[in-house]
Amino acid sequence: MINMGKKNIVTMPGDGIGKIVFSEALRVLDAAGFEANYINADIGWGCWVKEGNALPQRTIELLEKHRIGLFGAITSKPKDQAAKELSPGLQGKGYVYYSPIVGLRQHFDLDICIRPCRSFKGNPLNFIRRKGNSFEEPSVDVVVFRQNTEGLYSGVEWTNPPENVRSALETHPKMKKFKDVPGKDLAISTRIFTRPACSRIIREAFLYAKKFKYKSVTICEKPNVIRETSGMMMEEAKKISTDFPDIKLWFTNIDAQMMWLTKNPEDYGVIVAGNMFGDIVSDGFAGLVGGLGFACSANIGKDCAIFEPTHGSAPKYANLKPSIVNPMAMILSACMMLEHLGEIEKAERIKKAVADVIEEGKVRTYDMLRLPGSEKVFDQGAASTKEMTDAVISKME
Ligand code: NAI
Ligand code: MG
Repeated sequence: MINMGKKNIVTMPGDGIGKIVFSEALRVLDAAGFEANYINADIGWGCWVKEGNALPQRTIELLEKHRIGLFGAITSKPKDQAAKELSPGLQGKGYVYYSPIVGLRQHFDLDICIRPCRSFKGNPLNFIRRKGNSFEEPSVDVVVFRQNTEGLYSGVEWTNPPENVRSALETHPKMKKFKDVPGKDLAISTRIFTRPACSRIIREAFLYAKKFKYKSVTICEKPNVIRETSGMMMEEAKKISTDFPDIKLWFTNIDAQMMWLTKNPEDYGVIVAGNMFGDIVSDGFAGLVGGLGFACSANIGKDCAIFEPTHGSAPKYANLKPSIVNPMAMILSACMMLEHLGEIEKAERIKKAVADVIEEGKVRTYDMLRLPGSEKVFDQGAASTKEMTDAVISKME
């Protein structure tokens, strides 16, 4: 029964290790004293196979009603493979596989993706830099704001574009050199930015920087070449930054930013980028602080928010018992949900416990020991998923 005093949260563990890390994150939320009504929703491969739809309408309706979702991970497969795995009764009936997480982002217009990339002291996966004959370990604390719904991912694209599209494009002088390319040899993917979406993500990034005391907001685009779209981002950033005089506004180009990634990652705070560049730069920073076992994220729309680790369902580890995968990315995603709900103190408690476990270094999952994943990792000193979660919980007591 739903308790009226508590927050309702739609839970979507999904497939494979999504299910495994999900239940661990719930244990941590419990230990932090967070109370909620968890409403389970079906999503992912099982739904596709049985129903021909990886994102059932009933799940959309639950999210429309409750507006907060916690998501594990799903399995996606290429179209043909997906069609083959449909249950026999559904085969050949025209069902087409679509990724449910992309579907959620579009349906709920989850236009802001937040990806914190913070190094925890003592994490053996942290980036280190040579300094003289020794080395230093910069402390990275970057939060990437990636525009999630537009840009190169807006899906407006063609191979062999229709005639009216071609003639519209030919009104641009630079299109002349493509005039004689046969349609079948011409592929176009558009990069569409809208001013409201640029302005919304930049303002949210500044508000976040202010709330969590970051010193700078960096717009990471390429306005010297992609003048119109990156240019619009730049223009909006200059306007909005005047409302935040204490926060520095910087601009970097995506290519240079990737080159500087290992040079001075500690200099950056909040980073804003369009969809494609945001995907690239957030994976780059995530690689400096432990990779997929630690990469958490939030998808925030105007009236719905979904929190999820960046990793997928890792099918090759899904059936190992006990499980070897790192629950941190899922636990940290749950923390982001707490922060979104205003439960800052509980989120801080969990993050401190995570930091303590990592710094102490007694309990480490296989990825932290750089071992190839298999059941053998326990003999080589790795902790199980459950032992890692237990260690975090014990630090909170
Ligand atoms: P993946 O993220 O599932 O796994 C890649 C590798 O990263 C794993 O083999 C493992 O070595 C490591 N890894 C991932 N999560 C880890 C964790 N928590 N702890 C330790 N190591 C971890 O990506 P992959 O293999 O490309 O895709 C597997 C399935 O997941 C595919 O069906 C793919 O479509 C789906 N996927 C789903 C996503 C989502 O639900 N948002 C995102 C990415 C992939
Ligand atoms: Mg990616």
